[in-house]
Amino acid sequence: MLKTNHRTKTCGELTINDINEEVTLCGWLHKSRDLGGMTFIDIRDRYGITQLVFNMETNADICNKARSFGREYVIKATGIVAERSNKNLKIPTGEIEITVTDIEVLNVSKLPPFTIEENTDGGEEQRMKYRYLDLRRDNIRKNIELRHKMAQQTRIYLDGQAFIEVETPVLIKSTPEGARDFVVPSRMNQGEFYALPQSPQTFKQLLMVAGFDRYYQLVKCFRDEDLRADRQPEFTQIDCEMSFVQQEDILNMFEGLVKHLFKTVKGITIENLPRMTYDHAMKHYGNDKPDIRFEMKFVEMNELVKGKGFKVFDDAELIIGINVKGAADYTRKQLDELTDFVKRPQLGATGLIYMRHNTDGSLKSSVDKFYNEDELKNWSAAFNSSAGDLILVLAGNTDRIRKAMSELRLEMGNRMGLRDKDTYAPLWVLDFPLLEWNEDSKRWHAMHHPFTSPKPEDISYLNDVPGSVRANAYDMVINGVEVGGGSIRIHDKDLQKKMFQILGFTDEDAQAQFGFLMNAFEFGAPPHGGIAFGFDRLCSLFGGSDSIRDYIAFPKNNSGRDVMIDAPSPIAEEQLKELNIQLRSAK
Ligand code: AMO
Repeated sequence: MLKTNHRTKTCGELTINDINEEVTLCGWLHKSRDLGGMTFIDIRDRYGITQLVFNMETNADICNKARSFGREYVIKATGIVAERSNKNLKIPTGEIEITVTDIEVLNVSKLPPFTIEENTDGGEEQRMKYRYLDLRRDNIRKNIELRHKMAQQTRIYLDGQAFIEVETPVLIKSTPEGARDFVVPSRMNQGEFYALPQSPQTFKQLLMVAGFDRYYQLVKCFRDEDLRADRQPEFTQIDCEMSFVQQEDILNMFEGLVKHLFKTVKGITIENLPRMTYDHAMKHYGNDKPDIRFEMKFVEMNELVKGKGFKVFDDAELIIGINVKGAADYTRKQLDELTDFVKRPQLGATGLIYMRHNTDGSLKSSVDKFYNEDELKNWSAAFNSSAGDLILVLAGNTDRIRKAMSELRLEMGNRMGLRDKDTYAPLWVLDFPLLEWNEDSKRWHAMHHPFTSPKPEDISYLNDVPGSVRANAYDMVINGVEVGGGSIRIHDKDLQKKMFQILGFTDEDAQAQFGFLMNAFEFGAPPHGGIAFGFDRLCSLFGGSDSIRDYIAFPKNNSGRDVMIDAPSPIAEEQLKELNIQLRSAK
């Protein structure tokens, strides 16, 4: 199948069964070694590596020619498959080599700026600048192949469930997902701008009004936000929407998708996903995307420790602890490190308190002055600790302390080796709050987006206690990563109007920004809901990496730059003029 007019075989397929066959291979010169009378060249293509052998005694011309080639030359070699005396059983072609009878250079190559090896000597910046060379490396190519397989299997599953893939436009009007939009000036409508979609949210809802019933799209989304290892300014979603569904239908359908992906791509059978409410996740893990590969759940200690004269606890809104099993032998130095960890400005805890449950059964805390042995026994009971355990405690303002403890829990999970990359613990987090108060803008913001429906039983609280209203919204979380999120939508025009009012839109603003959607809702909108998965995140999780960049062929760096093509970049004066855009002088 892979035979072409240039080659008869690839560099990854020849085995002992092909001995004596004449073959022609094409590929890149991976490595070459001269051993006196013999020269060996490893030729590499997407499919693998094959050893070529040249003998000075029997064919000096060809051998000398081969010796003149440099690394990454594109070569074409014809020869006979022979059994190797020195076999390499680590690679599929390791039992054979090609005794070359003819060799040709298809193209020369400059010396690459880093080695094309799994453990390359190239730094991040160099690898990004020469990404096409980085992509020649086995491990990066495998990531891109994994991504392809994930996309194929996604399509197979959704197609099998009667979803149809519909493309939605890329030049749109801004959708309010909470991040900043990337904008594109219009030449034909001067002074006006398109926005690149943060997601196709409103379009997929319109497709439901149009009667499409089940939609999906592997789609590029664009968000101008601060970047992290799991965020890119342009990323891909598996975006889905369904009509005539309730939350339960969506959860089942997409639990099915994730199980299908695990089964077909990784050969792993996933049990039914556990479900956790947002409130439970925040109380026990301090986080709405809990890593449940390990326990170490929060224990709230207010009743246990307040009123004993220890000011830090007495003044605190919340006191929480975790039991780190088997860490009682942590040294003073290690505890100091952890204290520094929680005191970092991002976490802002004021200090770390601990109790050791020593291997001899004795209990020893850093606050012995205030808590006697009997009281520490109560701590031990609350944490269900046993000999060898270490209890870590933080106190302070609820939100801050939960966040700090959540980070400390993950850090301890790492240190104790409890976050194995090959173990997968997916779950649903449900019942998110509909709204969150924003101190800067002094108004309520939609926690998911403004089209998310409140739980029907909570609608009556919308006017008086909006903060307590729960949404029909859900996230899928795997190993502490939010891989997807969605909601049941509002399909009633009046309720949608009310939501916009609560979010501080005037009727005119709402009409100007979302008139198209509210008008559509007047033409028979079915009940509908959906979800979007972060496809890059899903791929990196399946590949066992924290960085989504390794799963994107041409990613941006941390400053949002593509250093290979050097974008973003200034544009010509002429283009600016056409767009009627004047830049303010940089000086
Ligand atoms: P949401 O904003 O939660 O929902 O996005 C869905 C998923 O997309 C991924 N994601 C990202 N991945 C990489 N880089 C980013 N900058 C980035 N931002 C988000 C996350 C996230 O869970 N329209 C709604 C979905 C819906 O309601 O149906 C939406 O976009 O994995």
